[in-house]
Amino acid sequence: MIGLCGWDTVARAERGRRPAAGAAEPGGTAIFLRNYWYVAAWSGEVGRAPLQRWLLNEPVVLWRRGDGTPCALADRCPHRGAPLSNGRVVGDDIVCGYHGLGFCGDGSCTQVPGIDDVPAGLSTRHYPVAERWGWIFLWMGDPALADEAAIPDYHWNDDPGWAGRGETLPVAVNYTLVRDNLLDLSHAHFVHQKTLATDAVVDAPVKTEFDGESLRVIRDMRGIEPSPFFKRLCGFNGAVDHRQEVTFTPAANIVISVRVRSTENPDHAVENRVLNAMTPETDRSTHYFWSLQRDTQLDDAALTDAMFTANRDTFFEDVAVIEAQQKMLDTAPEPAQPVRWHIDKGVDRAQRWVAKLLREEAAQTGRAAAAG
Ligand code: FES
Ligand SMILES: [Fe+2]
Repeated sequence: MIGLCGWDTVARAERGRRPAAGAAEPGGTAIFLRNYWYVAAWSGEVGRAPLQRWLLNEPVVLWRRGDGTPCALADRCPHRGAPLSNGRVVGDDIVCGYHGLGFCGDGSCTQVPGIDDVPAGLSTRHYPVAERWGWIFLWMGDPALADEAAIPDYHWNDDPGWAGRGETLPVAVNYTLVRDNLLDLSHAHFVHQKTLATDAVVDAPVKTEFDGESLRVIRDMRGIEPSPFFKRLCGFNGAVDHRQEVTFTPAANIVISVRVRSTENPDHAVENRVLNAMTPETDRSTHYFWSLQRDTQLDDAALTDAMFTANRDTFFEDVAVIEAQQKMLDTAPEPAQPVRWHIDKGVDRAQRWVAKLLREEAAQTGRAAAAG
């Protein structure tokens, strides 16, 4: 029999609660991992006009140079603090709309109105940028540590062997509540009655695998009744084998693989990938970038739209639950002995892991500050 267990005190500090006094910088900035790539935008959102986006409590301005290269700077002019995003893109540079300071993509100042020679070293903060698979990634920590090899793998987003679409959902919660929702899919039985619900998802054993690079939460459900989603959209009627693998990589990335196969006709099978990048906007809001990709009927645009709509409707159901959860976490005191059981395995493991990474990053930042 699987028993109940108490709340993990390490994980509590990292959950979607307001940070304790002294536990974080003003605004709670220390609750976010910084030396990681985060999805900042869809490629199509960034063009020749400045785009303002708040990421990890910081205002950022994004634009494209003349050759299409995306750039990102702190959206706070170092002169008097006006948002650079209220200015204009001129050539490759962005020019502040207040008094005309100009900056190029690496943050160097390129023009000071009324002064012929720009003072050496005049610059503003820049963020390393990479564009992959239809998404624009920003490195939110020390630029010297940015390594494109560490960009999380979302290649299904534009892989010709897959088809699908996605969008961004604004969610009024700390990003951890989105992450934890995805790491425990047993909620589908209760929250998604019309789409993803199966009895099996509650009863099936949960396996977790952790290799130091990623955490996987696996449910293997054999000979079960297909969920309404797979009945309606993929034509499954009889019993199916249904395998879910939820893979989490820090800071805020989850790829869900769902494989469904008819037990009577093994040739009837489909694999979906749900890509989830949960980028913090503030302590209490998240840019939830998601995309649903499948490996069959690639040219069926109507199926793409139907799957997108069905998935979005399920996410709306999630958003309603976790936004209410966030309000409760913010207003009610912690219970002395919150309840946990086997469905929480993946959530607990991720919370402990990220709490450890936050401690390590804080120590590393402290050492760098002391040395500098
Ligand atoms: S505030 Fe930007 S140039 Fe003055
Ligand atoms: Fe859900």
